[in-house]
Amino acid sequence: MEMKISPSILASDYANLEKELDKCASAQLIHVDVMDGHFVPNISIGAPVVSSIKKVCNIPFDVHLMISNPLQYVEDFANAGADIICFHTECDSPIDETLDKIISLGKKAALAIKPGTDAKAVIPYLDKLDMVLVMTVEPGFGGQSFMESTMPKIEAIRAMAPDIDIEVDGGINPETVKIAAKAGANVFVAGSAVFKSENPESTINLLKTNAENAAK
Ligand code: DX5
Ligand code: ZN
Repeated sequence: MEMKISPSILASDYANLEKELDKCASAQLIHVDVMDGHFVPNISIGAPVVSSIKKVCNIPFDVHLMISNPLQYVEDFANAGADIICFHTECDSPIDETLDKIISLGKKAALAIKPGTDAKAVIPYLDKLDMVLVMTVEPGFGGQSFMESTMPKIEAIRAMAPDIDIEVDGGINPETVKIAAKAGANVFVAGSAVFKSENPESTINLLKTNAENAAK
């Protein structure tokens, strides 16, 4: 299974997004965190920013909607250039309808679960999903510590869906990536680890190599 690294631009310098994205040329995906100040306490960026950075980056965008009403906004993010649209099972929108809308817009659909949410929450939707995101921190902030207690959920989902992409998000670094890969994850979001490092490109490559070796 292909291991994919998805640098989170939440940890990058928003005044220099084009330059920051250039540092991610070896990444498989770009992770875009969208926060509404309601589903999570923070506010980050919206569709206009996605639309602007789409013009300067060819890597597929993995858009993580930490918002209460994703159904209202998926079309905006699809039009802005999102390739994968991920929203939370804990949101207020009807899940099936939101997934159907993402798929009808020609985009890949993903569902995310917070650390306290059971893996069972995604099971009814697996047929429609390209990816499941198992949060390894409480959503809302970058720079938190990886919660190893979430690993059994990855093992459970991997056992049910051997071919689906399973993404982890929060506290991923060259050490924790190994733990998540062993549990069955294959898509790794990394914000601080990539953008706060001396050499983002070599960090991306190291994350990928460590994930590949751990998954063997
Ligand atoms: C947290 C976001 C993450 C965040 C990860 O709510 O969903 O994508 O950017 O940041 P790090 O890698 O610094 O934990
Ligand atoms: Zn995220």
